[in-house]
Amino acid sequence: VVDISSFYKDSGMFTYDPGYTSTASCESKITFIDGENSELRYRGYDISELAGKHSFLDVSYLLMRGKLPTPEASRNFDLEIRHRSFLNEGIIRLFDALPDGAHPMATMGAATMALSAFYKDHLHLEDEEEFKMMRRRILAKMPVIAAMAYRNSIGTPLIYPDVNRYFTENFLYMLRAYPGGRMKYLGNGQNDEIKQVEIDALDAIFTLHADHEQNASTTTVRNVGSTEAHPYVAIASGISALWGSAHGGANEKVMDQLKLIGDVKNVPTYIAKAKDKNDPFRLMGFGHRVYKNRDPRAETLKGLQDKLRDELKLDSKLLDIAAAVEEAALNDDYFKQRGLYPNIDFYSGVILTALKIPTEMFTPIFVIGRTPGWLAQWSELKQDPKHKIARPRQLYTGN
Ligand code: ACO
Repeated sequence: VVDISSFYKDSGMFTYDPGYTSTASCESKITFIDGENSELRYRGYDISELAGKHSFLDVSYLLMRGKLPTPEASRNFDLEIRHRSFLNEGIIRLFDALPDGAHPMATMGAATMALSAFYKDHLHLEDEEEFKMMRRRILAKMPVIAAMAYRNSIGTPLIYPDVNRYFTENFLYMLRAYPGGRMKYLGNGQNDEIKQVEIDALDAIFTLHADHEQNASTTTVRNVGSTEAHPYVAIASGISALWGSAHGGANEKVMDQLKLIGDVKNVPTYIAKAKDKNDPFRLMGFGHRVYKNRDPRAETLKGLQDKLRDELKLDSKLLDIAAAVEEAALNDDYFKQRGLYPNIDFYSGVILTALKIPTEMFTPIFVIGRTPGWLAQWSELKQDPKHKIARPRQLYTGN
C-alpha cells in the first residue's frame, strides 16, 4: 500500500490497493471469516452448525432476516418460496431466442436481468413487505431459471416447478424429469426418483456457498446496488462476476482438470506445471484470497464426500486423482509457502457429478447457493444510512 495522500490533498488518506486486498468497503453484520484460523460464521453461527443441520431455506432466512426461523416461520417461508417459483411466460419465451449450447450462466444472467422488466417493485422498496417479497421472489425463481437454462441449452422441453416439492428436490426434479414430469425409467420397474440423501447433499452444498462476505460477486452486487439500480439488475451483475474461473467458474474447471489429469500417475506432471512461472496453468480449486490456511467449507465438503462415497457411488477414479493432487500439493513447498490449500470448489464437483449434475451446471449451482447472501448483502447496503455510491479512485499514470 502506497500512501499518496500528498498528491490528493482534498481526499484525506488515499491508498493504492489493487484488488482491494486490504480495504474494507462496508460494515457488515452478516458473515464473519477468520482466514488464519479457518473460521466461517453466518450471523454468528459456525458453518459446521448449519450445513446439513438446518435446511438451506432456513439458512437463507437466517442470512436475510438475521435469525433462524421458528418452525412456523420456516413452514411459511418454505410455502411461499414454492408458490413464488413460477416464471412469467414472457421470460420463458426469452429462452427461445438463445441458441442450443448456450452456457446456462449466460442464460441465467439474461433471464435474471429480464426480471427487472417484469417486476417494478424497486419503486416501492420503502414498503417493508414488498422489500421482503422481492427477496423471496428472486430466491424462489433462481433454481427454476437455472434448470430451464440447462434444458434450453440441450434443447429439451422445459419442466415447470412442482409446488409439492421442497426447493432443492424441486431443482433436481426440474433437471432430471422427462417432458411431462415423469422420472426417467431405469428398467426393472424402477424410476430415477430423487433420493433423500441426494436432496440433503445438495442442500448442504447450497448452504456452504450461501455467503462469503465481500467476495468479487457480492462486491459487484453491492456496487451496482449502490447506484440505486434495480435489485434484479444488481443480482444479474453478481451472476456475471461469479462466472469467471478465478471465482465461481472454478468448480467447473476443477472437474475438467481432474479429467485432464486422467490418472494418478500424471499428478506430478500437473503439479510441476502449476509451479512453473512460465506456464499459465493453475491448479483449479487451490488457493483463496482470504484463507491462507484450510478453507472450512472445503473441510465440511470433504467430510460429506467421505460419508457419501458408497451411498452415492462417487466416482472412485476421480476421487483417487483428487486425493493424489491434494496430497502432492499439501506436501510441496511451493503450495505451503503461498498458503495454497484446496478451496470449496475442489470438493464439490465429485459429489455434484454423483448427483447426475452436468459439469456446466456447477457454477449455476453456486449461483443458487449464493443468492440469499447477495440478497442479504444488498438489503444491508440499502438499510445502511451511511451507504454511498461505490466510486473508487485511481492512480493516474498516463501523459
Ligand atoms: N495454482 C498455482 N499457483 C497459484 C494458485 C494455483 N491455484 N493460486 C495462487 N497461486 C500462486 C500465484 O501464482 C502467486 O504466486 P507468486 O507469489 O509466485 O506470484 C501466489 O500463489 C499468490 O496468488 P495470487 O493470484 O496473487 O492470490 P490471490 O489471492 O490474488 O488469488 C485465487 C486467489 C484467485 C483464488 C487464486 O488462488 C486462484 O486463481 N486459484 C485457482 C482458481 C480457484 O480455485 N478459484 C476459486 C476461488 S474460491 C471461490 O471463488 C469460491
